[in-house]
Amino acid sequence: MKPPLSIQITALGSYSPARVVTNDELSHRVDTSDEWIKSHTGIAVRHLAAELETTADLATKAVENLLANHGRTAAEIDGIVVATATPDYPGFPSTACLLAQRFGIKGPALDISAGCTGFIYALEVGRAMIITGAMKNALVVGSETLSSVVDWDDRNTCVLFGDGAGCALLESRQEQEGILDTYLKAEAAGAEALVIDPKSRTIKMDGRSVYSFAVRSIGQAIETLLKRNNLDFEDIAWIVPHQANQRIIAACAKRLGIDVQKFYLNIEQYANTSAASIPLALAEMQEKGLLKEGNRLLLVGFGAGLTYGGTLLTWHQY
Ligand code: ACO
Repeated sequence: MKPPLSIQITALGSYSPARVVTNDELSHRVDTSDEWIKSHTGIAVRHLAAELETTADLATKAVENLLANHGRTAAEIDGIVVATATPDYPGFPSTACLLAQRFGIKGPALDISAGCTGFIYALEVGRAMIITGAMKNALVVGSETLSSVVDWDDRNTCVLFGDGAGCALLESRQEQEGILDTYLKAEAAGAEALVIDPKSRTIKMDGRSVYSFAVRSIGQAIETLLKRNNLDFEDIAWIVPHQANQRIIAACAKRLGIDVQKFYLNIEQYANTSAASIPLALAEMQEKGLLKEGNRLLLVGFGAGLTYGGTLLTWHQY
């Protein structure tokens, strides 16, 4: 399944809001404890947006970070795809258009709604639009202010989520092997298991069914991508999963019979930032020097919809 053009991630950026909220702080509001949250999810702290800080504001900071880190300018960017479940405006304009306005970008700009799988979906939309010629390159962003839709009195959900933004620049580089394959699915029979309730505008979740869906779907995405590209686990340097719950990843590793160390995890510091979690993790890995030239990476997401999927790519240093 070799794409006609080789599309690469050539730059990454991220932003986490300054305010850090500990598990102990949450235990003053709901009946929970640091011990329960850590042992059931792996989360120690989460970053939360300031009162007037929106999803577009976090995304703006992440894009500024990408441009500064990689010596790029906004004038070089053509199109924007934003994955978010928490857009600034409920219908329109899209968060992508708000970014386009701030950075003076004139190409296509659109939002993707695919819950926590949003970044994986958005990467594929960006890749496809470059291939068709609709965009010269694509700024793919995952940005969320989940704190604005969390019911802070519901201990089942309020401990799980955080705010943040990450982004990747997708460009065509014909000489190198980039994104090799993408797998996208929706198991929509479970659509009501994870919703933002239209009346209360807060997250309602059937945690147990999402948990078992997550373990099953991550495994399926990983196995499918490896099998249809004739690769084994040894060929993959890192699996970068959506960061929802450390126990989900441990159960998935066990089911696949692989070492959990193969998965990059940073949920301890950020909690579940939905569509932002994968680009946040990638940017952090790059900062730590963990992404090496020629590494094969498997990005895998799952979330509301219920959607899931993965991206297999070869990493190059730029
Ligand atoms: N503190 C203390 N106790 C709690 C808390 C809490 N924060 N939350 C739930 N409990 C209690 C429950 O009330 C329940 O008590 P009960 O037995 O008296 O009813 C008990 O803990 C056990 O509840 P379970 O649901 O069995 O707990 P579990 O071990 O399954 O963990 C969790 C719950 C963490 C939510 C887990 O089911 C999970 O991770 N599910 C997936 C969630 C997820 O990933 N969601 C995001 C998907 S991505 C997206 O698109 C947003």
